[in-house]
Amino acid sequence: MSEIKNTEQKIEKIFKEAQDFLPLLGTDYVEFYVGNAKQSAYYFKTAFGFQSFAYKGLETGSKDVTSYVLIQDKIKIVLTTPLNSKSIVNDHLKKHGDGVKVIALWVDDATKSWEETTSRGAKSYMEPTTEKDEYGEVIRSGIYTYGETVHIFVERKNYEGVFLPGYEEWKSEYTPIPTGLKYIDHMVGNVGWNQMDKWVKYYEDVMGFVNFLSFDDKQITTEYSALMSKVMSNGNGRIKFPINEPAEGKRKSQIEEYLDFYEGSGVQHIAVATDDIITTVSELRNRGIEFLSVPPDEYYKAVPLRLQEHNHELKEDIITLKKLGILIDADEEGYLLQIFTKPLQDRPTLFFEIIQRMGARGFGAGNFKALFEAIEREQEKRGTL
Ligand code: FE2
Repeated sequence: MSEIKNTEQKIEKIFKEAQDFLPLLGTDYVEFYVGNAKQSAYYFKTAFGFQSFAYKGLETGSKDVTSYVLIQDKIKIVLTTPLNSKSIVNDHLKKHGDGVKVIALWVDDATKSWEETTSRGAKSYMEPTTEKDEYGEVIRSGIYTYGETVHIFVERKNYEGVFLPGYEEWKSEYTPIPTGLKYIDHMVGNVGWNQMDKWVKYYEDVMGFVNFLSFDDKQITTEYSALMSKVMSNGNGRIKFPINEPAEGKRKSQIEEYLDFYEGSGVQHIAVATDDIITTVSELRNRGIEFLSVPPDEYYKAVPLRLQEHNHELKEDIITLKKLGILIDADEEGYLLQIFTKPLQDRPTLFFEIIQRMGARGFGAGNFKALFEAIEREQEKRGTL
């Protein structure tokens, strides 16, 4: 596919076109609204190997919500649940079920980030707000993105506490072994019919991002369904947000299924990077994480050729990759290994991707067909294809 045959230089040039009015240092945290944060925290610890990190709740004076913060290497997730019927978190939960509310971005200046983005058309979610405790101060501000999802800018350079003011360290004797998850590689949003370009423009205009890769419905199609996707990136390439929209097909696409069950646009998947996908996926499978079904034999027969075309040598044992259902894609810069979990909650909405990059900077376009056919097999079982 020509879109993924970007040379290093071309990619650097694309990144240079990004605007620098919103310098982003990285992903700060991802906050999920969930029906039962205590049980979700146990799931993320036990199954994914996250560690207890910080907590707020009745014991710390938080009367409205309880939040558990979990950590694994550079990834911080916050699991928030309402403590009474008055909390606004209920409205989100009632409509969307468990899902991602906040993609928080680490910045040097949260006030400037808010001013730059709102003056370019972003709808404010939270005006710059200073929160203080004995460890210093954090300034946060926020804007809406697709659906009811928000970006919060976090300025923490004058803070030495564990997470944010209001939280205390969460010590736990239960410390399951980490599974090798290192950082968030990308986070994908699903938006409604004909909405992709609107959100592409939003990320360009409001946040200074650039369109790094595009896939049209002819590239992302199976016998039954199709979708379109554009990958948005900030200037240093640390933050990548692909945006998907459904496209016409014979039957209902997975994006439509998501939009029906999430009742709107929202985060479809979080891709987390590992240095050793074989160990990570073996461990996750042992702990009960379910992945999409293993592709057929023909898929793995075609892999050596796909790598040869780009002169790459597979370092991993293909028999092991096949046994675990790990997908392989290659472009001229290298290859990547990836696998997708089944939805993490009962609604067929959010799922995780596990990815190991061996030089390739793409998103596994060569795997889209195999992936979507696997998703369609699941949709068939749910009666939503
Ligand atoms: Fe992905």
